[in-house]
Amino acid sequence: MQSENHHHDITRIVRAAVLTVSDRSARGEREDAGGPLIEEIVRSKGWEVIVYSVVPDDRTAIKNELIRLADNLEADLILTTGGTGLAARDITPEATLDVIDRPVPGMAEAMRSESLKKTPYAMLSRAVCGVRGTSLIVNLPGSPRAVQECLEVILPVVPHAVELLRGSVTDCAPPADS
Ligand code: MTE
Repeated sequence: MQSENHHHDITRIVRAAVLTVSDRSARGEREDAGGPLIEEIVRSKGWEVIVYSVVPDDRTAIKNELIRLADNLEADLILTTGGTGLAARDITPEATLDVIDRPVPGMAEAMRSESLKKTPYAMLSRAVCGVRGTSLIVNLPGSPRAVQECLEVILPVVPHAVELLRGSVTDCAPPADS
């Protein structure tokens, strides 16, 4: 049915927000590579990047920005990059846990297990994924290589996650091979 197809096309457009977490980038001392790379990859899927912002590794600053992106801008997908490791200032996972209603541990597990096939350092990322309202928040590590590798893992399931969060579908269609 034409009307259904039309409806489906609209629901598939993902409105993404990109948030770089970095003291040095926030101070303008280092050009951010991760954020622009996320933008490029998201746009290459035909999705929209509604906002790109940079905050320092400060729990309150990250928290407030995540709340703005989710509650005020109503982003479907919020991709953070940086601050997931073990350095003293790395605080992105804690700030994310501060704002999410429900964790989505499987996405973080999948990113780490796939990344471990490429580098043992993947186990040092404490990245968290979760839902706030109807926004899906995903922490990515800071390096462009990690951004690329982790996005490859999660982006294929994002349209279905967004549909479920919007309530435009309420369950999962059976897989094609069943
Ligand atoms: N994941 C993938 N796929 N590829 C990588 O190169 N780097 C790791 C890890 N995850 C990496 C990765 C490294 S070296 C660190 S220290 C942690 O992510 C945390 O990175 P962050 O502090 O920049 O968030």
